[in-house]
This record gives sequence, structure tokens and C-alpha cells, in this order.
Amino acid sequence: MDTKASFEITSASGPVWQASVDVVAFATFGDPSKDPVFKSADQALGGALADIATAESFEGKPGQILVHYTGGKITPKRVLVIGAGPRNEFSNAHVRDVTAALAQTANKVRAASVAFVLPTLGAQREAQLVQFATEGLALGTYRFGRYLTSEESKRPHTLTAVHVYRDVKGAKSSAAQTRAFQAAVVRGQTIAAAVNHARDLINEPAAVATPKALAADAQAIGKKHKGSVSVTVLDAKQCAALGMGMFLAVGQGSDEEPRFIHMTYKPAKKAKKKICFIGKGVTFDSGGYSLKPSNAMEDMKIDMSGAAAVISAMDAIATLGSEYEVHSVTACCENLVSGRAYKLGDVLKSMDGTTVEINNTDAEGRLTLGDAITYARTKIQPDEMFDFATLTGACMVALGPYTAGVMSDHEGLVRNWLNVADRTGEDMWRLPLTSRLREQLKSPIADMRNTGDRFGGAITAGLFLKTFAKDTPWVHVDIAGPASTASNRPSQPKGGTGFAVSTIVEYAAKA
Ligand code: BES
Ligand code: MN
Ligand code: ZN
Repeated sequence: MDTKASFEITSASGPVWQASVDVVAFATFGDPSKDPVFKSADQALGGALADIATAESFEGKPGQILVHYTGGKITPKRVLVIGAGPRNEFSNAHVRDVTAALAQTANKVRAASVAFVLPTLGAQREAQLVQFATEGLALGTYRFGRYLTSEESKRPHTLTAVHVYRDVKGAKSSAAQTRAFQAAVVRGQTIAAAVNHARDLINEPAAVATPKALAADAQAIGKKHKGSVSVTVLDAKQCAALGMGMFLAVGQGSDEEPRFIHMTYKPAKKAKKKICFIGKGVTFDSGGYSLKPSNAMEDMKIDMSGAAAVISAMDAIATLGSEYEVHSVTACCENLVSGRAYKLGDVLKSMDGTTVEINNTDAEGRLTLGDAITYARTKIQPDEMFDFATLTGACMVALGPYTAGVMSDHEGLVRNWLNVADRTGEDMWRLPLTSRLREQLKSPIADMRNTGDRFGGAITAGLFLKTFAKDTPWVHVDIAGPASTASNRPSQPKGGTGFAVSTIVEYAAKA
């Protein structure tokens, strides 16, 4: 939906201080006087850099940046030092922040080409380093500018080429290393494009990113990957025929028609297993008759972040290929108030037959997801399924705004998932599905009610979903916090973050 900067990222060799580029950039881990790359740069500049670092109180901390005009002392016009903090605290997510800051600074000084010295983090991480560095460049230059009209906001990015050096001497790469480098760049670019696409969908106003628009987006991805991705879109009538009473009740108060979107990726060879990714797709959550106060409602266009993540991830998975049959399922609708809206006290019948008494119309996500999970379990019958949902404020109370809550009774599956999240640097933390809390969901007139008490709110939401997942191996990921951000981190500008996309792709796509 928005135009994106694109870079050429190449592997380079030869002494980096003699590279003919606008900027030479590198990360410094803590105290610059102890950092070997910094010392090499300082030497090349005749000792000027250390003096500047002292004068500017540059201590190599994360977020700190030093830009210096080299005045012809070395070939690059400017040297850019990016603080990275202590080496042992430097996670994969930090790699993205380093190159995101690099791209932002390069554009600020109107540079077109940058030579970047890869941080040395041990051979084990070198393979992933290039991928995450690539992701950072695209993520850091993301902007959602289509509604901005000023000259400044229309100014194109200047950075077009990044030359990556394995060390300051620019050691030559072997053929195998070059191949690995190129594959990592493609992977990084593909994943970042999907993350940025999810950000676009999330940042669009609810009036634009409607259920129909999300369906059209999924169909466009299907068209792009004709032959491997197929897309089925169900309207309200078709959902009614399947008995999706919970999903339809949530959407019935809105003039926007609901859409149930099912995407399927099939590998050319026989699939090793079947995986289904389910995303919450409430395109706007007013709370319904349990109306949210204005300040809590303000940001609720982001309530389709789960859907945005799984739809966008399908694009990257199809580009990179997978050994698995991969499905995405999103039940998309809008939760509004009107003469047709669902009410407190209503009893809904779900696709699996369970009846649910509504005691809060603002707990709508679990209703839409419950039917999506039943559809996945019975129509797709996956070996494993995951759902991603901006589900509860309680999860943010428990874990803070940057960490997703992960709930599952399937030990092996959840461990695999968290291992992948650890690799991609997406913050996820497990919460228990405490079965004793199940009693909070008892209703005197139906099989269940849709909300429990305030305490344990993230868990009771998970327990509600578990009723529909039944025995199918399933992991629930509550992304209410990390789906959007109000604070700036270089690789994550304000707004939708595209959280979960990179872990989904890393989990499903071919290595
Ligand atoms: N979409 C909200 C959860 C949310 C809150 C997401 C803040 C992102 C930021 C969800 O539908 C909701 O309203 N949940 C209620 C559940 C409650 C009524 C049991 C909540 O968390 O207050
Ligand atoms: Mn709600
Ligand atoms: Zn919601």
C-alpha cells in the first residue's frame, strides 16, 4: 500500500577505510577505547575519532550514534559509529536496530552508499547476522506516509547501496560464503517486506482496512503465487451455513460485511506436515455495547494485527518455499454498536455446537477466534495450529507492552515455537493455562460465558479458546502489547509493528 525503499546489498572485500562510499559504518560494543573495530577506525583517522567520542560522551551504548565528516583522511566521506552495548547482551533483535539506525542516519545525511562492517559475534551467529542486518535496513526505513502531504514527508530515501564487509580488512569470501550471503539477503528482504506489509495493513484506518480489503489483499497474494497459494473467501451467508454463530454475532452490528479468509500454500513435493496460522481480524473494536472509553478505543484499528501478520507471512512463506502445507485462517469483522449489534445476555451457538452466554461484548476476539479454530480443526485438520491475537489488556498488564503471552498445553510444540521466537528476537513469554480458572467461565444458562474475572484475564481468554482447539496441538499467542508501539526503536517506528511475522516465517519456511 505504501512505496518502500529498496537497497542493493552486496558482499564486499578489500580494506574498508578505502571503500569509495559516502559513509563507512560499524557497531561499537561498549567502551570504544576497547573495541577493535573502533580502534582501527581511529587509527585510520589519525586518532581523531577517539577524541570526538570523548568530547561527545559516546560510550558505545545502544541508541548512541556518532557521525563524523572525515575530511579526506580516509576514502569514505563520513564515518558512522553505532553504539551496540555489551557484546554478551547483544541479541538478534539488536542487529536489526544497528542497521535500522544505519539506514536512518545515512538518509539523514543524504548518503547513497554505505560500507558496513559486520559485527563479529562468533561463527555460529554469522549466518543469521546478514539476514537480520538486511531486515533492519528495510524495517528502519519503513514509514507510513500515504496520508502525509508535506514536502519533507515525500522526500525519497537517498540510500540505495549497502556494501557489507566481513571485517575491516575486507577478507574475501569463498564461493560458498557468497552463496550463503546472497541467500541470507533474499531471506531478510523477503521477511522485512512481509513485516512492512503487515505494518501497512495495521496502520491503515479501519475505514480502509475493512474485512473486504483484507480479503482482497489475501487474494492479491494468491494471485502473486499462482500455483502454490490458493485463497478462499467466505461471506456472511457461507459462514452462517457452516454455523459460525459466534463470529457472525460480533460482526452483525456493523455495516461492513464480514469476511472469512482461508489461504493455503502447498509445496510441490508431498508435504511433511500441515500447519495452520490463525489471526484475529477485528478491523475495529469499539467494544460493542460494553463500549470502550474513547482513549481505549482510539487505537483499536490495530485489532486486526494477528490477521495482518498471518496473511503477510503467507506471502513470504510462498516466496521462500516450505516443506509443509501451510494455511492461514482469519475471521474478519468489525465490532460496533447499532440496532443490529449483539447484546449482553445473548446466547450464541458456535460452529462446534457449544453455546456461549455473552457477559461482555468487548471480549469479541475469542468469539471470532473460537469459530476460526473450529474451522481450522475440522476443515483443515492440521498437525499443529497457532493463533495470533490482540486479545487482552490483561496480557499487557502481566508482561508489559513489548512481550507476547504464549499459552499451550503441548509442551514439545510450544518449546519449538519459543526457540524460533528466540532466534528471530521477538519477545515471547509463556503463561500457564491454569485449569482451575475455568470455573470463571461457567454460565447458568449456556455451556460457557465469554469472560471471567479481571484477575487472570489473559489466561481465561486462553482457556476459552482451548475449548475449541480440543486435542489438536495448538499454541495461543496474545500479541495485544507488541502488535503496535508508541515508542520509537530504530527497527520499529511508531504504529503497527508487524509482530509475529518473522517468527511465523522462520518457523514455516525452508531454512
Ligand atoms: N482488542 C481488545 C484487547 C486489546 C487491548 C488489544 C489493548 C490491544 C490493546 C480486546 O478485544 C478486548 O477488548 N479485551 C478485553 C477483554 C475483557 C472484556 C475481558 C480487555 O482486555 O479489556
Ligand atoms: Mn474487545
Ligand atoms: Zn478486540
